[in-house]
Amino acid sequence: ARVLILAGGLSYERDVSLRSGRRIADALGELGVHAEIADVDSSLLSTLAKDPPDAVVFALHGAPGEDGSLRGVLELLSIPYVGPSATSASRAWDKPGAKTLVREAGITTPDWIALPRETFSDLGAGALLERIGDRMGLPLVVKPSRGGSGLGVQRVSTAGELPAAMMAAFAYGDTALIERFVPGADIAVSVVDFGDGPRALPAVEIAPKGGEYDYVARYNAGATTWHCPARLSDDVAARVAEIAVAAHEALALGDLSRVDLMVPPDGEPAFLEANVAPGMTETSLLPHAARAAGIGVGHLLASLVRNAIR
Ligand code: DAL
Ligand code: MG
Repeated sequence: ARVLILAGGLSYERDVSLRSGRRIADALGELGVHAEIADVDSSLLSTLAKDPPDAVVFALHGAPGEDGSLRGVLELLSIPYVGPSATSASRAWDKPGAKTLVREAGITTPDWIALPRETFSDLGAGALLERIGDRMGLPLVVKPSRGGSGLGVQRVSTAGELPAAMMAAFAYGDTALIERFVPGADIAVSVVDFGDGPRALPAVEIAPKGGEYDYVARYNAGATTWHCPARLSDDVAARVAEIAVAAHEALALGDLSRVDLMVPPDGEPAFLEANVAPGMTETSLLPHAARAAGIGVGHLLASLVRNAIR
């Protein structure tokens, strides 16, 4: 089978995506799977139509890899691919929308307000601070409602920091998500379905040495310590796995996702977001989890490719 790995493109996560793509190509190559990387540009559509691969794997982070648009094209061309459908990807990509669906499924997620740029401009910073302060309290996390890799994400501890945090989020998109900050362990759970139902891989606990899991902490070797399995009691670990699978199902994420949660010292783990094209770089979370599960990222993807083609 010939597998095409979609990577690169023109998103803010282009470099990360190319690293994920190379890592996937190497891992599949080691297993004898014929895998090629396509750096996504406007020539992709004619390439896909003329010479369709047997399957596609997404290493394309950011839109259009995660917003469902390219997945829709593959669906039109009847090209199988690994990961959530176009519809599911577009739901998960929009963080406020995903939080709504997940909350409706009975899963805890921190309170939030989604604010379009225009509303922010109309309200003015003062009125905004009052409104958000009243409803949400502090501390908060402000992030672009669609995005990844920690870009444009700011922790806000005092009301005065809010306007700058909003501007940072608006630099990456037209809607900002203002979310109550939940203190605790930062946990990522990869969920895979090899055809017998979704199951959680061992949870990864993220401990950035500088305190914030930002772009630098994510992609520079040595900047973050990972604990896999996470340092959770058996009960909490089981609950985290259960919630990750429930969120995966609430968003209909098919054969692959990574669910990110905050796990407070006491109390219910809180869903933050689900990723439909999880990072696969040397420092990314899903590869850690796959290693801990004794699968290896190459074998994991090769199985998912086989199932997608079938
Ligand atoms: N957006 C990055 C690549 C991730 O979710 O891992
Ligand atoms: Mg993400």
